[in-house]
Amino acid sequence: MKKIEVKKVPKITLANGESIPAIGMGTFGNDKYAPKDVSNAVYNAIEIGYRFFDGAAAYGNESDIGNVYAKAIRNSVVKREDLYILSKLWNNMHGKQDVLVALTKTLKDLQLDYLDSYLVHWPFPNYHAPGAGVDDRHPNSRPFFIEEFMETWEQMERLVDMGLVRHIGVSNMTVPKLKEMIPLCRIKPLFNEIEIHPAFQQWDTFEYCQNQDITVIAYSPLGSAERPKRDMESTDTAVMEMPELMQIARNHHVHPALICLKWAVQRGHIPVPFSVRQEEYFSNLASVTEDPLTESEMEIIKAADKNDRLIKAKVFLWPGAENWKNIWDLNGEIDRTGWTK
Ligand SMILES: NC(=O)c1ccc[n+]([C@@H]2O[C@H](COP(=O)([O-])OP(=O)(O)OC[C@H]3O[C@@H](n4cnc5c(N)ncnc54)[C@H](OP(=O)(O)O)[C@@H]3O)[C@@H](O)[C@H]2O)c1
Repeated sequence: MKKIEVKKVPKITLANGESIPAIGMGTFGNDKYAPKDVSNAVYNAIEIGYRFFDGAAAYGNESDIGNVYAKAIRNSVVKREDLYILSKLWNNMHGKQDVLVALTKTLKDLQLDYLDSYLVHWPFPNYHAPGAGVDDRHPNSRPFFIEEFMETWEQMERLVDMGLVRHIGVSNMTVPKLKEMIPLCRIKPLFNEIEIHPAFQQWDTFEYCQNQDITVIAYSPLGSAERPKRDMESTDTAVMEMPELMQIARNHHVHPALICLKWAVQRGHIPVPFSVRQEEYFSNLASVTEDPLTESEMEIIKAADKNDRLIKAKVFLWPGAENWKNIWDLNGEIDRTGWTK
């Protein structure tokens, strides 16, 4: 098996001064890949040189992945302290009572006694079942309310106090929601994990987070061609086929996926690409250790932004909402369109 020297993988410095790998591996099988496919990939990825893994209870594979973390540590492939393991609190476990319960289950599944990072997966408690269809809605779904969110966040802070979680963060947070949250935090979020790729660069959110010392983790950094069908629309950009990316890929004699990753690491957000194919996840890691993009290639990608959100999250809409855009606060304030309760 080809390996990458771990010390060659670029690092990114967090607000607390700690350095972690500037690229991770995603572990969401997109309702398509079975837990075993993903956990086999995670084990091999550790052998290859990955140290940062982006997981979540909602991905339904933490116990399989826990088995391979334990095996890798047992076999001295890696030491626990050299892994950066992230998981996320699922939407049905928000609130005063359930956060510790959820984390305890995740730690048990992952066979760990602490997590490196725990994120609130979505900023509202709107549950959907694995494999949900495009029109599936949970009747209790509702928009974001800061008081409700802070009840959950205070429990997240408690997990840090208890030594169960080293860092906490958020995911899918917009600037208006962060502006309400940040002044109320005892422990500020260290991360915001959001969709970013060359067709959806999210400069406003990225720069706001940078100014707030919040490191951005980029999900779907390759444009998530295998995302669940419920999130697809005919007008969506096929990121791997963007002409600018294809041209730069030809310049470097690599697949456009690898250009997305070089761009991410050079820009300063952490991409967490997913693949269960060894040749892909090997080259994903290798790509950021060699042959960087030029400044002018970085500018070409910047100019190619299409502001095209691919992960629309329609299944989280509340009764009365008009469409998926209501989730994302596009008018610069928290959007509760149609909410009457
Ligand atoms: N926080 C959140 O709400 C959230 C939401 C979505 C995702 N995520 C995280 O982000 C991770 C990645 O997102 P994602 O899986 O949606 O999308 P992605 O990483 O943008 O795309 C994954 C797909 O890209 C293809 N691919 C990977 N490496 C490649 C390469 N070197 N060459 C060509 N194709 C390649 C694979 O296709 P094949 O399968 O055909 O090989 C794979 O299924 C997830 O696993 C998860 O950890 C988080």
